[in-house]
Amino acid sequence: MTGKTEDIEVRLLLEAVFRKYHYDFRGYSMASVKRRMKQAKEHFECTTISQLQDRVLHDESVLPALLSYLTVQVSELFRDPSYYKALRELVVPHLKTYPSLKVWVAGCSTGEELYSLAILFREEDLEDRTIFYATDINPNALKQAEAGVYSLDRIAKFTENHQRSGGKSSLSDYYTANYRGAIFDKTLRMRTVFADHSLVSDSAFAEVHFVSCRNVLIYFDLENQNRTIGLFVDSLVRKGFLGLGSKESLRFTRYADSFTEFSREDRIFQKRGTP
Ligand SMILES: C[S@@+](CC[C@H](N)C(=O)[O-])C[C@H]1O[C@@H](n2cnc3c(N)ncnc32)[C@H](O)[C@@H]1O
Repeated sequence: MTGKTEDIEVRLLLEAVFRKYHYDFRGYSMASVKRRMKQAKEHFECTTISQLQDRVLHDESVLPALLSYLTVQVSELFRDPSYYKALRELVVPHLKTYPSLKVWVAGCSTGEELYSLAILFREEDLEDRTIFYATDINPNALKQAEAGVYSLDRIAKFTENHQRSGGKSSLSDYYTANYRGAIFDKTLRMRTVFADHSLVSDSAFAEVHFVSCRNVLIYFDLENQNRTIGLFVDSLVRKGFLGLGSKESLRFTRYADSFTEFSREDRIFQKRGTP
């Protein structure tokens, strides 16, 4: 099978998923989608991607598994500790000047980024004035985020990251361990609204002071990146903050001039005060 035929099949599959289920992966970066659809094809024991398209159109139970291939769920507590250190040291002093705060964790996956921020906000005495919105398109990931249970073999890495981020307490203060894993304290998510929201097709829903959207834009083509950053511009207050992943930037997007580079190394941007 030529690469070209496979390209056509992948595009038709994404069109089918969009028309039938309204999940829009048509503007995702092709190389990664193609690689993942090849894995899905093997998982479903299909010989071609067209066969996979047939399966997803005629058997609705296939969609959740296909979604798990289309959306990458890699995450970690305090992933890239220097990002959280920069938030603590540089952004928190600004956030402290607001009497109330709204924070949007966009593409929150299974919740690790949300719990990292909730812990950081508790340690920095910002928790009581904050509402978090944690959004994603993957319903299974959102369910796991709400449960806040992580496998115990990940805790050593999480603990090391927390310390390297400038953690002011012991990570073990925030979870209890039992046979199910490390169960994070439910008070950490008491001020969180979890919602199904797509950055490529839904609109802005709140005025927020800080958007943390890490490792999501890398999966989008430029048009989707533009749309997503446009949503953040619409959602952020003047001088609000945006944090991206370590391999992401605003440089090629239409909105590069709407922000200043607040901490270049840690991909933290500040919305300009003027329109
Ligand atoms: C690699 S994970 C990033 C998780 C977390 N932000 C982090 O950096 O650790 C990417 C997440 O983006 C989500 N995602 C993909 N497309 C999306 C969209 N259109 N709208 C919202 N979330 C999306 C995926 O479901 C997945 O949970």
